[in-house]
Amino acid sequence: MIKGKQIVVGITGGIAAYKAADLVRQFRKRDAAVDVIMTRNAQHFVTPLTFQTISGHPVFTDLFGNYQPEISHIALADKADILIIAPATANIIAKIASGLADDLLSTVALATTAPLLIAPAMNTKMWENPITQDNVKKLKERTITIVDPSTGELACGYEGKGRLAEIEDIVDKTLDILTPKDLHGERILITAGPTHEPIDPIRMLTNRSSGKMGYALAEASYRRGAEVMLVTGPTTLMPLDHIHTIRVTNAFEMDKAVSKHYKSCSIVIKAAAVSDYRPKKSFREKVKKTHKTLTLELERNPDILYKMGKNKGSRFLVGFAAETKNLISQAKSKLDRKNLDLIVVNHALQNDGGFGSDSNEVTLIDYEGKVETLPRLKKTELADKILDTIKAVKAEKKATAGQKKATDSAVKRKNR
Ligand code: PMT
Repeated sequence: MIKGKQIVVGITGGIAAYKAADLVRQFRKRDAAVDVIMTRNAQHFVTPLTFQTISGHPVFTDLFGNYQPEISHIALADKADILIIAPATANIIAKIASGLADDLLSTVALATTAPLLIAPAMNTKMWENPITQDNVKKLKERTITIVDPSTGELACGYEGKGRLAEIEDIVDKTLDILTPKDLHGERILITAGPTHEPIDPIRMLTNRSSGKMGYALAEASYRRGAEVMLVTGPTTLMPLDHIHTIRVTNAFEMDKAVSKHYKSCSIVIKAAAVSDYRPKKSFREKVKKTHKTLTLELERNPDILYKMGKNKGSRFLVGFAAETKNLISQAKSKLDRKNLDLIVVNHALQNDGGFGSDSNEVTLIDYEGKVETLPRLKKTELADKILDTIKAVKAEKKATAGQKKATDSAVKRKNR
């Protein structure tokens, strides 16, 4: 969602200046273009060459610098989709709060109409000083986003609030600000991960799903303004902040959790890899190797998505399909049988993708049979592509239903 965005990162003079290198790297990793402005004091802590290397562009340090290609402070201010100042000293905060523009960074901050995000870092006493607090309040009132400093041991030897917030939190806030809230009003139920079907207290039937695809969908939906409920099988992934998450172990529990929230949602995305079968008997004690062979009898689990399709109403249903052959025809028949609006099919045996990996190569098939094959993408990017398609197909379906209604009423009027 920040691919191609123009991010300007301003760095001021504090010991945390070196951490901004990771911030710039994180944005570059997501294919955003980054320009860096360093104040004179920032250059005492880190050299511009570090940021030039990471951002891939010359670093701007001087209001009247002779830059190649030529670029003015106004052009920098105009091209920015967002200006982030991290770390921000008490000095730059005071300057912005008072509208002072006496160097390149403060001038760009005053000249830009792009959103401004400030991550302060300073000595605890400076942070707690009522003058700094008044300035921060002033900035917040002007809808400038402040990512508050964290508490801990500071480089100056003090213990308290003043450490630069975690880079991950600054990146998250930036993504939030730059992402249009185009799914606002939708309630999206997402399933993720595998299920564990117990054989005995130690063994189980499961699969290789890591939950990454479902979690990426949950995060992207939340960022785009949707209300999200995530029903997840066992995974080792970090819990997602702000997302209502229900943890389940087996297919029965997933069925129960999904049924409970199904009524209230407008979109369902079933990325979970649910075990189709479970052992008919689950042993209370560990099964011992007393026999040469052992036969496990399996019985069918409920097909959760099939049940949802039977009782779909006006909801938009998205299924996944993991196949090893005849991908398109198998997926199409699942789409029809489960009464889906969209299906995402992936090859279960693809190299370096699919189950467990950070990337995936999928084909999308909609309810009208339209097929779109996407290139291999990171699951975080793929999540947004899937959501874009859901939005487009849902809008198309609504328009078609509207047209049909209008035609039906016209026919009725004519026949009266
Ligand atoms: O979790 P990751 O490591 O990121 O990997 C992602 C993934 C490979 C698991 C994901 O992309 C994927 O393909 N998920 C669906 C896997 C699967 O179980 O496919 P299926 O063809 O068996 O099931 C079809 C659909 O019915 C799925 O939406 C599934 O959630 C649903 N289903 C299946 C069985 C069942 N008993 N109940 C269901 O609801």
